[in-house]
Amino acid sequence: MTTNESARHGHSHAIGDHDGIGNRSKSIPEIQDAVADHVDEMDGSSTVNRLLTARYRRRHFARAGGRVLDVACGTGTNVEYLPDDVAYVGVDICPEMLTRAADRFEYLTRGESLYEMDAQDLAFDDDSFDTVVSSMSTCMFPDPVAALEEMARVCTPDGRILLLEHGRSSVGPIARLQDWRAEPRYEKTGCRWNQEPLAIVSRSELTVEESNTGLLGMVTTITARPPERD
Ligand SMILES: C[S@@+](CC[C@H](N)C(=O)[O-])C[C@H]1O[C@@H](n2cnc3c(N)ncnc32)[C@H](O)[C@@H]1O
Repeated sequence: MTTNESARHGHSHAIGDHDGIGNRSKSIPEIQDAVADHVDEMDGSSTVNRLLTARYRRRHFARAGGRVLDVACGTGTNVEYLPDDVAYVGVDICPEMLTRAADRFEYLTRGESLYEMDAQDLAFDDDSFDTVVSSMSTCMFPDPVAALEEMARVCTPDGRILLLEHGRSSVGPIARLQDWRAEPRYEKTGCRWNQEPLAIVSRSELTVEESNTGLLGMVTTITARPPERD
């Protein structure tokens, strides 16, 4: 059974200690509702999000190439940080985010494609993208390991998976504040903001080649490759 079939057949990976909010997850419809209520806050192109993440996106996603899949693309912010000559495909589960992305792409006219799709069950063939990028997303997937393994499945064997994730601060007082507010924040927005991204990736079959953490430990960039296949 391929990983995709495994996801379709309901094999799941338990939410773990490093996911930030105990062992439960919202359903896809609950996530869609939560995101629809927070489109402005989750728009990676908002002024606040630009201030916090633009330099990480710029540095990390510049290394993407070829046919690029942006998983949980939101409002399509990452397009601005990719090389001009990539072929961009974005997927997201929330129609309101995709509508905003489509508005942006209307003036970019670089042939971007957008699909409403669950990251845990990607409707693409194996090995169909040269680069898979995803930002600020594992915090929201009901089963982040299943989503990472889908990213690996659709990535060519010599391709790369570039992640930009936020998580629990390395600064004690900030981390404790995140822990304290984790439950209400998750209830409201569906975001596990005190997750530990590297620990989550380590539970998947991806091989991490490089990672860097900044912004008081709250932002992590990860370069990974898919596992060797027979
Ligand atoms: C915090 S936003 C980040 C958006 C964008 N990647 C960025 O960096 O600006 C998280 C996004 O994940 C999407 N998402 C959550 N669960 C998803 C799933 N199972 N499949 C696809 N997208 C999902 C949400 O709809 C939302 O657009």
